[in-house]
Amino acid sequence: MLDHNLNFFYYIVLFALYCFVGWIAEVIYRSVSQRKFVNAGFLFGPFIPIYGVGAFLVVVLEYALQDWPIAVRFAAFGLLITLLEYLVGYLSEKIFKLTLWNYSECRFNLHGRVCLRFSLLWTLLALAFVIFIHPEAFRRVASLPAGLVQIAAIVFMVYFWIDYTFSVISLAAFRKGVAYLYEEYFNLSSLEIEDILKSFQRLREAFPDLNTYVNSHINRRIKIKIDSYLKPVSEKIFQELEGRKPFEAEYYETVRDILAHEEFRKLKEYFHHNSSIYSHVHDVAYLSYRISKYLKLDYRSAARGALLHDFFLYDWRNHDAPDLPREKFHGLEHPKIAVTNAKKYFSLNDIEEDIIRKHMWPLTIVPPKYKESYIVSFADKYLSSREFISEYKKRIEARRSKKDASRRGKDIPTAEP
Ligand SMILES: [Fe+2]
Ligand SMILES: [Fe+2]
Repeated sequence: MLDHNLNFFYYIVLFALYCFVGWIAEVIYRSVSQRKFVNAGFLFGPFIPIYGVGAFLVVVLEYALQDWPIAVRFAAFGLLITLLEYLVGYLSEKIFKLTLWNYSECRFNLHGRVCLRFSLLWTLLALAFVIFIHPEAFRRVASLPAGLVQIAAIVFMVYFWIDYTFSVISLAAFRKGVAYLYEEYFNLSSLEIEDILKSFQRLREAFPDLNTYVNSHINRRIKIKIDSYLKPVSEKIFQELEGRKPFEAEYYETVRDILAHEEFRKLKEYFHHNSSIYSHVHDVAYLSYRISKYLKLDYRSAARGALLHDFFLYDWRNHDAPDLPREKFHGLEHPKIAVTNAKKYFSLNDIEEDIIRKHMWPLTIVPPKYKESYIVSFADKYLSSREFISEYKKRIEARRSKKDASRRGKDIPTAEP
């Protein structure tokens, strides 16, 4: 297990090997669960140090406890690994102010940093590792020529420190980027916002819990900010919408082909909030068009994207296959269905696709890339809530008049028999 005659460089090579194997295991796990290739870990290169550190601690513990019964070793490994995982989680939260993983949804967790299920899994893996993998790996590495091992170890150490330094800088840049995006959101162009969000991409895929951080630090604040910013603008425009029918030739010119399309016109057949999907998307499109025009944004994409944002052809209160199987959640699924339908009949630019895909944000976790998407998302919620309220009032009114009618019916004196 351990050999005091072997020099330090052999252990560095073993450490690198275990960091690499850990990286492969994480990549497989993350890529399978996210259904695409994900470069796991916070380093740029193919190494995850916590696996190397964990492997070494387990090997040293096994060396110390080798004569003890397996149950004692199992408990000791479990304790050690749980402590290590807790400590790394705690330090990343304290030093980088980031939660890299979160078990708070799992039962029997401690501060979301460790949980019973994963601790048991790690312990089983550790036991399998010291019994089956380490002895063989150790034998093979120990048989390598000393010169080769020394060069490999030095190359790894230099590489490791460079990668580590840049990775720490990139984590700090991530936090700064989030703060910058929040502060400067309205002064940035869509392209700049997209670039910043893209620069977060790798870290957010490697550590899905960072999305919670982005959500709490950007999404919620941007939403509050955008709502307060848009309120006076939209109220002004809404008053106009109430007073007269939208008549702007430019708006109709922008969306003429969509409105005339046979498949799109089928939306008239599906009830939505208080009328049809067709009239709902029409109102959202016009409001988004007016706001975007007022703010000097891409109002054409806003109008077209908004018009197509609910392009699903089923009754969402009682939906069925083929468009949406009954067990699926309409709120999360319909933006994807709308994108597929829209792409089938029209060509979409990036802004339009983002508008449709993200209009349910923050229900869908990934935030919109473009300001126009925020505006459509806002206009949709604003108008939907008005439509719901008007439908609710209509129903209350109908119930009341029905009651009145039946009361009046009772009040009418009947003729004596
Ligand atoms: Fe929708
Ligand atoms: Fe909608």
